[in-house]
Amino acid sequence: MAPVPRASTTVSCLSPGTLKAVFFLFASICAWYSGYLLAELIPEVSLSSAAYSIRNIGERPVLKAPAPKRQKCDHWTPCPSDTYAYRLLSGGGRDKYAKICFEDELLIGEKTGNVGRGINIAIVNYMTGKVTATQYFDMFEGDNSGQMINFIQSAPSKSLLFMVTHDDGASRLKEDAKKVIEGLGSKHIRNIQFRSSWVFLTAKGLQLPEEIQRESINHSDSARNRYSGWPAEVQIEGCIPKKTS
Ligand SMILES: *[C@@H]1O[C@H](CO)[C@@H](O)[C@H](O)[C@H]1NC(C)=O
Repeated sequence: MAPVPRASTTVSCLSPGTLKAVFFLFASICAWYSGYLLAELIPEVSLSSAAYSIRNIGERPVLKAPAPKRQKCDHWTPCPSDTYAYRLLSGGGRDKYAKICFEDELLIGEKTGNVGRGINIAIVNYMTGKVTATQYFDMFEGDNSGQMINFIQSAPSKSLLFMVTHDDGASRLKEDAKKVIEGLGSKHIRNIQFRSSWVFLTAKGLQLPEEIQRESINHSDSARNRYSGWPAEVQIEGCIPKKTS
Protein backbone atom coordinates (compact mmCIF):
# COMPACT_ATOMS: atom_id res chain seq x y z
CA MET A 1 0.00 0.00 0.00
CA ALA A 2 1.46 3.30 -1.10
CA PRO A 3 1.90 5.74 1.73
CA VAL A 4 -0.38 8.69 1.52
CA PRO A 5 1.56 11.97 1.55
CA ARG A 6 1.11 13.62 4.90
CA ALA A 7 0.76 17.04 3.53
CA SER A 8 -2.13 16.32 1.28
CA THR A 9 -3.76 14.57 4.12
CA THR A 10 -3.25 17.65 6.24
CA VAL A 11 -4.55 20.01 3.53
CA SER A 12 -7.48 17.85 2.84
CA CYS A 13 -8.21 17.86 6.53
CA LEU A 14 -8.39 21.71 6.69
CA SER A 15 -11.82 23.22 6.34
CA PRO A 16 -12.36 25.73 3.48
CA GLY A 17 -12.67 28.49 6.09
CA THR A 18 -9.22 27.85 7.53
CA LEU A 19 -7.75 27.66 4.04
CA LYS A 20 -9.16 31.11 3.22
CA ALA A 21 -7.65 32.55 6.41
CA VAL A 22 -4.21 31.14 5.66
CA PHE A 23 -4.33 32.43 2.11
CA PHE A 24 -5.38 35.88 3.31
CA LEU A 25 -2.49 35.95 5.79
CA PHE A 26 -0.04 34.96 3.07
CA ALA A 27 -1.38 37.61 0.69
CA SER A 28 -1.11 40.22 3.42
CA ILE A 29 2.51 39.31 4.11
CA CYS A 30 3.26 39.54 0.37
CA ALA A 31 1.62 42.95 0.14
CA TRP A 32 3.50 44.27 3.16
CA TYR A 33 6.78 42.89 1.85
CA SER A 34 6.40 44.32 -1.65
CA GLY A 35 5.54 47.69 -0.16
CA TYR A 36 8.62 47.48 2.03
CA LEU A 37 10.80 46.53 -0.99
CA LEU A 38 9.44 49.39 -3.03
CA ALA A 39 10.17 51.89 -0.29
CA GLU A 40 13.73 50.61 -0.05
CA LEU A 41 14.24 50.77 -3.80
CA ILE A 42 13.06 54.35 -4.42
CA PRO A 43 16.17 56.45 -3.86
CA GLU A 44 16.08 59.11 -1.16
CA VAL A 45 17.43 61.72 -3.58
CA SER A 46 14.53 61.59 -5.97
CA LEU A 47 12.12 61.97 -3.07
CA SER A 48 13.83 65.00 -1.62
CA SER A 49 14.21 66.60 -5.05
CA ALA A 50 10.54 66.01 -5.67
CA ALA A 51 9.76 67.80 -2.44
CA TYR A 52 12.14 70.59 -3.50
CA SER A 53 10.49 71.10 -6.86
CA ILE A 54 7.09 71.24 -5.18
CA ARG A 55 8.41 74.03 -3.00
CA ASN A 56 9.82 75.73 -6.11
CA ILE A 57 6.43 75.70 -7.74
CA GLY A 58 5.13 77.51 -4.69
CA GLU A 59 7.84 80.15 -5.00
CA ARG A 60 7.69 80.70 -8.72
CA PRO A 61 4.90 83.35 -8.83
CA VAL A 62 7.21 85.83 -7.09
CA LEU A 63 8.24 87.88 -10.12
CA LYS A 64 11.05 90.29 -9.49
CA ALA A 65 10.69 93.67 -11.19
CA PRO A 66 14.04 95.13 -12.22
CA ALA A 67 15.24 97.73 -9.74
CA PRO A 68 14.42 101.20 -11.12
CA LYS A 69 17.49 103.04 -12.29
CA ARG A 70 18.36 105.93 -10.02
CA GLN A 71 18.39 109.23 -11.89
CA LYS A 72 20.65 112.23 -11.37
CA CYS A 73 19.72 114.19 -8.22
CA ASP A 74 17.03 111.54 -7.52
CA HIS A 75 14.75 112.72 -10.31
CA TRP A 76 11.91 110.39 -11.26
CA THR A 77 12.63 110.73 -14.97
CA PRO A 78 16.06 111.41 -16.46
CA CYS A 79 16.97 114.83 -17.83
CA PRO A 80 17.75 114.92 -21.59
CA SER A 81 21.49 114.53 -22.20
CA ASP A 82 21.84 118.12 -23.44
CA THR A 83 20.65 119.51 -20.08
CA TYR A 84 21.91 119.84 -16.51
CA ALA A 85 19.87 118.17 -13.75
CA TYR A 86 19.27 120.14 -10.57
CA ARG A 87 17.37 119.80 -7.30
CA LEU A 88 17.20 122.34 -4.50
CA LEU A 89 15.84 121.49 -1.07
CA SER A 90 15.51 123.92 1.80
CA GLY A 91 16.22 122.87 5.36
CA GLY A 92 13.42 121.32 7.42
CA GLY A 93 13.48 122.49 11.02
CA ARG A 94 16.93 122.65 12.54
CA ASP A 95 18.06 119.07 11.89
CA LYS A 96 17.11 118.34 8.29
CA TYR A 97 19.78 120.10 6.32
CA ALA A 98 19.30 121.99 3.10
CA LYS A 99 20.69 120.47 -0.12
CA ILE A 100 21.78 121.69 -3.51
CA CYS A 101 22.29 118.95 -6.11
CA PHE A 102 23.59 119.67 -9.61
CA GLU A 103 24.37 116.98 -12.19
CA ASP A 104 24.14 114.42 -9.39
CA GLU A 105 26.82 116.21 -7.40
CA LEU A 106 25.99 117.47 -3.92
CA LEU A 107 27.21 121.06 -4.00
CA ILE A 108 25.86 121.95 -0.57
CA GLY A 109 24.63 119.51 2.06
CA GLU A 110 25.25 117.70 5.31
CA LYS A 111 27.61 115.16 3.67
CA THR A 112 29.77 117.87 2.15
CA GLY A 113 29.75 119.72 5.46
CA ASN A 114 29.23 123.16 3.93
CA VAL A 115 25.61 123.82 4.87
CA GLY A 116 24.72 126.31 7.57
CA ARG A 117 22.04 128.44 9.14
CA GLY A 118 20.98 131.27 6.87
CA ILE A 119 21.17 131.51 3.09
CA ASN A 120 23.31 128.88 1.34
CA ILE A 121 24.55 129.72 -2.17
CA ALA A 122 26.31 127.67 -4.85
CA ILE A 123 27.73 129.20 -8.04
CA VAL A 124 28.24 127.03 -11.13
CA ASN A 125 30.02 127.90 -14.38
CA TYR A 126 27.26 127.48 -16.98
CA MET A 127 29.71 126.71 -19.82
CA THR A 128 31.63 123.91 -18.02
CA GLY A 129 28.99 122.76 -15.52
CA LYS A 130 31.60 122.94 -12.76
CA VAL A 131 30.96 124.46 -9.34
CA THR A 132 33.08 127.54 -8.75
CA ALA A 133 32.08 128.57 -5.20
CA THR A 134 29.79 127.65 -2.30
CA GLN A 135 29.12 129.65 0.84
CA TYR A 136 26.50 130.13 3.53
CA PHE A 137 25.61 133.40 5.19
CA ASP A 138 24.14 133.35 8.68
CA MET A 139 21.02 135.47 8.72
CA PHE A 140 20.17 135.00 12.39
CA GLU A 141 23.37 136.20 14.02
CA GLY A 142 25.98 138.62 12.80
CA ASP A 143 25.88 141.07 9.94
CA ASN A 144 26.42 139.00 6.80
CA SER A 145 24.11 140.66 4.30
CA GLY A 146 26.90 142.77 2.78
CA GLN A 147 29.22 139.78 2.43
CA MET A 148 26.45 137.89 0.70
CA ILE A 149 25.94 140.74 -1.79
CA ASN A 150 29.67 140.68 -2.59
CA PHE A 151 29.56 136.91 -3.07
CA ILE A 152 26.58 137.13 -5.45
CA GLN A 153 28.15 139.99 -7.38
CA SER A 154 31.47 138.13 -7.66
CA ALA A 155 29.78 135.49 -9.82
CA PRO A 156 30.92 136.08 -13.40
CA SER A 157 28.60 136.30 -16.40
CA LYS A 158 27.40 132.86 -17.58
CA SER A 159 26.93 131.58 -14.05
CA LEU A 160 24.12 129.60 -12.48
CA LEU A 161 23.27 130.58 -8.89
CA PHE A 162 21.43 128.28 -6.51
CA MET A 163 20.12 129.56 -3.16
CA VAL A 164 18.48 127.66 -0.28
CA THR A 165 17.62 128.59 3.28
CA HIS A 166 18.39 126.53 6.33
CA ASP A 167 16.70 127.26 9.68
CA ASP A 168 16.33 131.03 9.27
CA GLY A 169 17.28 133.11 6.25
CA ALA A 170 15.37 136.27 7.05
CA SER A 171 16.08 137.87 10.42
CA ARG A 172 19.19 139.85 9.39
CA LEU A 173 18.64 139.97 5.65
CA LYS A 174 18.88 143.63 4.73
CA GLU A 175 16.99 145.64 2.17
CA ASP A 176 19.92 146.08 -0.23
CA ALA A 177 20.48 142.29 -0.30
CA LYS A 178 16.80 141.73 -1.04
CA LYS A 179 17.10 144.21 -3.91
CA VAL A 180 20.06 142.32 -5.40
CA ILE A 181 18.20 138.99 -5.25
CA GLU A 182 15.06 140.61 -6.61
CA GLY A 183 17.18 142.01 -9.45
CA LEU A 184 18.09 138.43 -10.34
CA GLY A 185 14.43 137.53 -10.79
CA SER A 186 13.18 136.52 -7.33
CA LYS A 187 9.47 137.09 -6.79
CA HIS A 188 9.41 136.01 -3.14
CA ILE A 189 12.53 137.29 -1.40
CA ARG A 190 10.74 140.46 -0.40
CA ASN A 191 8.13 138.39 1.47
CA ILE A 192 10.58 136.16 3.31
CA GLN A 193 9.85 135.90 7.05
CA PHE A 194 11.46 134.47 10.15
CA ARG A 195 12.16 130.77 9.43
CA SER A 196 10.52 130.75 5.99
CA SER A 197 11.68 127.87 3.76
CA TRP A 198 12.95 129.32 0.47
CA VAL A 199 14.73 127.97 -2.63
CA PHE A 200 15.75 129.95 -5.70
CA LEU A 201 17.51 129.32 -9.01
CA THR A 202 18.85 132.17 -11.13
CA ALA A 203 21.46 132.88 -13.78
CA LYS A 204 23.77 135.70 -14.76
CA GLY A 205 24.47 136.54 -18.40
CA LEU A 206 21.98 134.05 -19.80
CA GLN A 207 18.23 133.56 -19.99
CA LEU A 208 16.72 130.52 -18.26
CA PRO A 209 13.70 128.96 -20.00
CA GLU A 210 10.40 130.31 -18.65
CA GLU A 211 8.91 126.90 -17.92
CA ILE A 212 11.51 125.54 -15.49
CA GLN A 213 11.02 125.71 -11.72
CA ARG A 214 12.89 128.69 -10.34
CA GLU A 215 11.57 129.46 -6.87
CA SER A 216 9.46 128.25 -3.97
CA ILE A 217 8.67 129.56 -0.49
CA ASN A 218 6.76 128.43 2.59
CA HIS A 219 6.22 130.55 5.66
CA SER A 220 6.20 129.50 9.28
CA ASP A 221 2.65 129.25 10.62
CA SER A 222 2.18 127.75 14.08
CA ALA A 223 -1.14 126.20 13.03
CA ARG A 224 0.31 124.39 9.99
CA ASN A 225 4.04 123.97 10.67
CA ARG A 226 5.44 120.51 9.94
CA TYR A 227 8.23 120.91 12.47
CA SER A 228 7.58 122.64 15.75
CA GLY A 229 8.59 126.19 15.00
CA TRP A 230 9.41 125.64 11.30
CA PRO A 231 7.34 125.13 8.14
CA ALA A 232 7.76 122.15 5.83
CA GLU A 233 10.77 122.26 3.52
CA VAL A 234 10.29 123.38 -0.07
CA GLN A 235 12.03 122.08 -3.15
CA ILE A 236 12.36 122.65 -6.87
CA GLU A 237 13.92 120.47 -9.53
CA GLY A 238 14.33 120.33 -13.28
CA CYS A 239 16.66 120.31 -16.26
CA ILE A 240 18.58 123.36 -17.51
CA PRO A 241 19.39 123.34 -21.26
CA LYS A 242 23.16 123.46 -21.76
CA LYS A 243 22.96 125.94 -24.63
CA THR A 244 20.42 128.73 -24.70
CA SER A 245 18.68 128.99 -28.04
C1 LIG B 1 3.96 124.67 3.79
O1 LIG B 1 4.18 123.92 4.94
C2 LIG B 1 3.03 123.33 5.52
C3 LIG B 1 3.44 122.61 6.76
O2 LIG B 1 4.45 123.29 7.43
C4 LIG B 1 2.39 122.39 4.54
O3 LIG B 1 1.19 121.91 5.06
C5 LIG B 1 2.13 123.12 3.23
O4 LIG B 1 1.66 122.19 2.29
C6 LIG B 1 3.39 123.77 2.73
N1 LIG B 1 3.13 124.53 1.50
C7 LIG B 1 3.95 124.50 0.46
C8 LIG B 1 3.56 125.38 -0.67
O5 LIG B 1 4.95 123.79 0.42
